[in-house]
Amino acid sequence: MAERPYIVGNWKMNGTRAMLSEARAIDRAAQRYMKVEVAVAPPYTLIHAVHKEAEQIGVGAQDCHAGPEGAHTGDINAPMVADAGAKFVILGHSERRQDHAETNECINAKIESAIDAGLRVILCCGETLETRDAGKAEEFVLGQLKAALPKFEDPAERLTVAYEPIWAIGTGRTATADDIAAMHGAIRQLLVDTYGEEASAMVRILYGGSVKPENAREILATPEVGGALVGGASLSAESFLGIVVGAS
Ligand code: G3P
Repeated sequence: MAERPYIVGNWKMNGTRAMLSEARAIDRAAQRYMKVEVAVAPPYTLIHAVHKEAEQIGVGAQDCHAGPEGAHTGDINAPMVADAGAKFVILGHSERRQDHAETNECINAKIESAIDAGLRVILCCGETLETRDAGKAEEFVLGQLKAALPKFEDPAERLTVAYEPIWAIGTGRTATADDIAAMHGAIRQLLVDTYGEEASAMVRILYGGSVKPENAREILATPEVGGALVGGASLSAESFLGIVVGAS
């Protein structure tokens, strides 16, 4: 049976306790769309509070440090976000790669630590407009994944991939359905080559980059799109639920 569509809200660096009302609204409404798996990744400061509110939606972190507890001022590691109630962690987001010079190897170490802490992983990948215009988007994205993917015993239990063309994030531009289908097809083939047909079949490949209620249905109907990773539109329950409706 195909996995349910997975709609994940990445709140990024947005949200104080005033946002808990939006989390409650998303959670209560998600109970009417049981055919869609819904989750949010609030800032660290709200993980526990959203976890306490959530009856239906999943709660996750937007990153984690790869190391064990210790002298890393300001950092938060995988066991700590799991202790706060996170069930998954987004890793390798382009904004982390850009703002914090995260390498594929660093992301691989974070994935290993997240798995050890019992977390599911949403592994992000995506190219710049320059790379796409140079005709090297697929080569670049598959290179990111090959360097970061660990040897999972059962990837479906632990891994979700999110393809987010950097030039579509926060810009209002989305990739065309053909471009999304081509890239998701290439990622699917890499997953098959890496984990085998059966083990990789249930690994969902999300699309992210300016997903909105008005374009969600078309994007989610594209082959090999198993859901969406949503930024700006996830900050309001109304717009986020408009995307959930598009997936249902
Ligand atoms: O992680 C999701 C995010 O990068 C997409 O952002 O605002 O284009 O939906 P946005």
